[in-house]
Amino acid sequence: AASLPASVAALTLQSTDQKSKFAGCFPTLNPMDIYREHIAEQLGNATGIDAAKIYARLAWTSTLDKGDLSLPVASLQIKQNPMELAKELASKFPESDLIHPPSVAGPHMQFFCKTEPLAKTVLGRILSEKAAYGTNGNQGQKDPSDPSKGQKKIIIEFSSPNIAKPFHAGHLRSTIIGGFLANLYTVMGWDVIKMNYLGDWGKQYGLLANGFKYFGNEEALTKDPINHLFDVYVKVNGLVAEHDGPIKALKEQIKIKKEKSEDVAELEAQLAKLVDVSEDEKARRYFKSMEDGDPEALALWRKFRDLSIEKYKQTYARLNIDFDVYSGESQIKGESMSEAYKLMEKAGVSEESEGAVIVDFTKHGAKKLGKAIIVRKDGTPLYLTRDIGAITERDEEYHFDKMIYVVAAQQDLHLAQLFKVTELMGHKDLASRCQHINFGMVRGMSTRKGTVKFLDDILKDVGEKMHEVMKKNEVKYSQVEDPVKTADTLGITSVMVQDMTGKRINGYDFNLDAMTSFEGDTGPYLQYAHARLCSMARKSELNADELVNANFDLLTEQHASDLVRLLAQWPDVLLNTAKTLEPVTVLSYLFRMTHMLSSSYDVLKVIGSEPEVKKARMALYASARQVLNNGMRILGLNPVERM
Ligand code: ARG
Repeated sequence: AASLPASVAALTLQSTDQKSKFAGCFPTLNPMDIYREHIAEQLGNATGIDAAKIYARLAWTSTLDKGDLSLPVASLQIKQNPMELAKELASKFPESDLIHPPSVAGPHMQFFCKTEPLAKTVLGRILSEKAAYGTNGNQGQKDPSDPSKGQKKIIIEFSSPNIAKPFHAGHLRSTIIGGFLANLYTVMGWDVIKMNYLGDWGKQYGLLANGFKYFGNEEALTKDPINHLFDVYVKVNGLVAEHDGPIKALKEQIKIKKEKSEDVAELEAQLAKLVDVSEDEKARRYFKSMEDGDPEALALWRKFRDLSIEKYKQTYARLNIDFDVYSGESQIKGESMSEAYKLMEKAGVSEESEGAVIVDFTKHGAKKLGKAIIVRKDGTPLYLTRDIGAITERDEEYHFDKMIYVVAAQQDLHLAQLFKVTELMGHKDLASRCQHINFGMVRGMSTRKGTVKFLDDILKDVGEKMHEVMKKNEVKYSQVEDPVKTADTLGITSVMVQDMTGKRINGYDFNLDAMTSFEGDTGPYLQYAHARLCSMARKSELNADELVNANFDLLTEQHASDLVRLLAQWPDVLLNTAKTLEPVTVLSYLFRMTHMLSSSYDVLKVIGSEPEVKKARMALYASARQVLNNGMRILGLNPVERM
C-alpha cells in the first residue's frame, strides 16, 4: 500500500515475553486489551468463573453511554436469572485503579474506564506510535506466537477494467473498495498483492485492430490512448451495426421462405458472402490470428495494452493506488485451461452438449448455478474458462493464503460458478481460500457535460466543482498554496466518501451536489475536520514532539474524557473492519469522532488557556488528528492540511 507510511507496513509484533494468557489478546498493541484482560482476571478471581470465558465474552459498545466494554452475562451460560446474575457479579467486582465499579443495565454489566489512566495510555501511545496506532501486525502472521513462520499472503484482485471500453461505475467501486482492502490487510500485517485483471483479450481486440486501420492515428494514440482507442471502438462498432442490419434482414427472409418450403439456396449464398465481408467476421479472423500467435497482430495488441496501462497508472495514482501486477485475460495460458478441461472430464463434471463443453451445476448439488459453457462449439474458451485457468495459475505462482475478487454483484453468479467449478475439479482447498467481495450499482454516474466514459472525466468534473466551492471563501482560498491541487484532492475525497457511505451491497445515486457539500457526512466535511486540527496545531505554536509529556490529568471535562474513550476504540474498530470488510465501518467511526470534535472546540479551548492545560488539550487534539489521519489513509484518502 503505497500511501501508507513504511513504519506501518513494518509494524511491531507483540513479542513473546509480553504475551497474554488469552487468545487474541495483544495489550501492547491494543489498549482496550489491557482492560479486557484486567476485567477478566478480576472478575474471574472474585467469582471463580473461568477468566478466559469472561475475556471472550467482553463486547465493545455501540455508544459511550453503554460503557467502554460490556458483558452480556447470559453468554456465560450460568444457570441463574441474567438480571440477578449481573447484579451479583457487579457487587463482587473488586475496587480497581483502572475502571469504575461496574454498572448494571438489565442483563448487561457495563464497564467504564477511569479517565486519567486511560488518557495516559491512549494519548501516550497515539503520540508515539503515530501511523502505527491501531494497526495489528499479529493478524497477518501465519502463527502469531511464532514470527519465524512469516506473514500470510493475500491477493486482492480489483478494478479490472476492459481496455478500449468505458471505465464504468462498477470499475470505480471496485477500485475504491479494493484499494481500501489492500490498505486494511497491509496494516493488519498481511503480505498484500494488488492485482489488476484487465479485460484485454477476445474478439473485441480483433475489431479494435481492424478499426485502427480505418480510423486510427498514431499521434492521437500516443497522446491519449484511452480516449483514442475508445473513439476507434465506437466508430468500428458503427460499421458492425451497418453490416448487421442487412445480415439480419436476409436471415429473416430465409426463415420465412424455409417455412413456406421455398428454395433458399441463392439467398444462403448471398448471406454467406455478406457474413464473409462483415466487420464482425473480420474481427473473428483477426482474433484467431492473435490466438494463433501472429507476431504482427500481437505487436499491435501489445502496443494498445501497454499504452493503456501507462495511462491507467496515472489515474490510479490520483487515488493513491498502485498495482503490483497487471494481469489480464490475455495472460492466461492455454495449458492451464486444457489442464482444467482434463480435470473436469476426469472428475465427471463436464459434459458435451451440442458440440460445446458445458458444466451442468444442477447435477452437482448446485441447482441455483444453472449451466455454464466451458468450451464453445468452435473450440474457443470463454470469460469463465479464463478465470478457471487464472485461479489455478495464481495458486501455483503465489501460494496465497487468501484471494479476494472485488467485483460487482452483477457477477455473483459468475464467481459462484468459478468457485464451484474449482471445487468440483478437486481443488476444494483452493476454492475455500477465495472470496468474492461484491457491491451494488451506482446510478446516474455522469459529468455535467454528459454521460461519463472514463474515470478521469469524473475526477476532473468533481475537482472543478470543488474549486468553485472553495473560491466562495476568498480569505481562506488565498491562503491555500496550490488551490487546484487541493480542489482535486477534495473532489476525489468527495467521490470516495460518497461511495463508502453505505454498505457495499447497497447501490446509490451519484450526486455531485450532495457529495461536494460541507453539510452532512461528506468527504469535504471530513477533510475540513482534518485541516482544522492541523490549523490548531500551527496556531498553538507548541512543539509536537513535546505533547507526549503533557499532564493528561488536566483533561477533566466530559468532552475530553469522551474523546479519549473514542480514540481508545480505534484498534477495535480496525479489528472489526477486518471482519466486516466494509469501508463504512471505518467511515462511520471517523464521523462519530469528527462530530464529537466539532462539539468540543468551544468547551476545550486551546488558545488562551493556562500553558499546562493548553498543552494537555493540544495533545488530545493532536491525537485525534492522528487517528483521523490513520483512518482516512486506510480508506485511501489523502488528508489535506489546509483548504
Ligand atoms: N473485466 C471484467 C468486467 O469489466 C471484470 C473482471 C473481474 N474479475 C474476474 N476475475 N473475472 O466485467
